[in-house]
Amino acid sequence: MFLFQCLLRVGGWDRERVIFFFFSCSPGLGEYVGGGVGGWGYAVGDCHSTGVEVRGSEVDAMRLNLHLRTANNVLFLLKQFECVSPEELYRNVSELAWEDMISPDEYLSVVGKIDSEFVDNSMFANLKVKDAIVDRIAGKCGRRPDSGKERDGIVVQLYWKDKRCWLYLNTSGVKISDRMYRKMPHSAPLRESLAAAIIMATGYNGTGPLVCPMCGSGTLAIEAALIASERAPGLLRSNYGFMHTKYFDEAKWRQMRSEALKANKERGGKAAFRPGRIVVSDIDAEAVEAARKNATTAGVGHLIEFDICDFAETAIPEGAGIIVMNPEYGLRLGEIAELEETYKRIGDFFKKRCSGYTGYIFTGNPGLGKKVGLRTSRRFEFYNASIECRLLKYELYAGSKKGQH
Ligand SMILES: C[S@@+](CC[C@H](N)C(=O)[O-])C[C@H]1O[C@@H](n2cnc3c(N)ncnc32)[C@H](O)[C@@H]1O
Repeated sequence: MFLFQCLLRVGGWDRERVIFFFFSCSPGLGEYVGGGVGGWGYAVGDCHSTGVEVRGSEVDAMRLNLHLRTANNVLFLLKQFECVSPEELYRNVSELAWEDMISPDEYLSVVGKIDSEFVDNSMFANLKVKDAIVDRIAGKCGRRPDSGKERDGIVVQLYWKDKRCWLYLNTSGVKISDRMYRKMPHSAPLRESLAAAIIMATGYNGTGPLVCPMCGSGTLAIEAALIASERAPGLLRSNYGFMHTKYFDEAKWRQMRSEALKANKERGGKAAFRPGRIVVSDIDAEAVEAARKNATTAGVGHLIEFDICDFAETAIPEGAGIIVMNPEYGLRLGEIAELEETYKRIGDFFKKRCSGYTGYIFTGNPGLGKKVGLRTSRRFEFYNASIECRLLKYELYAGSKKGQH
């Protein structure tokens, strides 16, 4: 699965080398991550449903952390090796020159995913990796870094599958899907990277109108506005894993951020380019308040119009726009019965009020999707955490036919 060979010289770091990254993402988003990386001119290697491999340098790691919309983590491959025991894991990890990358004053966290008969649990494997790193640094520097669960310092990531281990530096630290604009979460918010992928799947490019009834905390509309105004999604973040390494080039990072801000001002600033109207609504006043505050924090509040109303009353701007809805999909039987009526009403709303638009419904319940009663022209497969979801697409010609699914 991971075809790239690691170039890292055991026992030494080479800042100028080409290195290999793996962009991890939620299942199903690999295609969108690949598109995002390719858009920046990188040659994309293997593309999996949960990630993409690419070559680059440490500077590229910063750029991609700042600009990637659909990835969760930017992982930099340190080493891969055969391993059949925790002792072998310790030995392999301690061969790397950690003292060249991590100061003893830093804070270290190790996370792991293990699918191997050679170790009982992932916590033990993580502990072995942590011990190998801090022991090596203590041996070379006389002091060891603190360690624990927080991901706000150095994050090292281990994948151990059968007899093979991959050891990564997680250059993101906290997942980059956490953009830090959601100060006010509401019920069942979508992860930002998933919301961005949904918007990309609709083909939205900011020119026509976009309508998001049932907006909740506003994630879909905010991600759309970020895309329309070409605003780098990582601009709000002040902390990334790469900042804690000894090779962090702060001047380069500042320059990259100010270039991104300048590009955004030209495209989405108050006096500059305006995307088509972005209209959001929710029946719950608290949700709309959360969406408004989150959009303002994200720097796109001025691009979005907010309303409190039943979805069926949402203002639909003229023109051939996109309407995207993320209704609840319910887990309990009583909820499902109520939601069947809601999905049926969404079908009626699409048919009666949204002619000329392309409609999308994101749902984790295919049975409810059928209650819409309109023919889908396409179904996109996604996962929301572990729930298999579908983005259902409807061409809403005037007089859409009821019928088969
Ligand atoms: C699953 S949440 C949407 C979450 C959103 N995508 C986010 O990321 O925060 C569904 C939203 O639909 C809203 N809702 C439920 N029934 C509604 C109705 N009849 N009209 C308008 N909004 C409704 C709820 O208040 C809730 O905010």
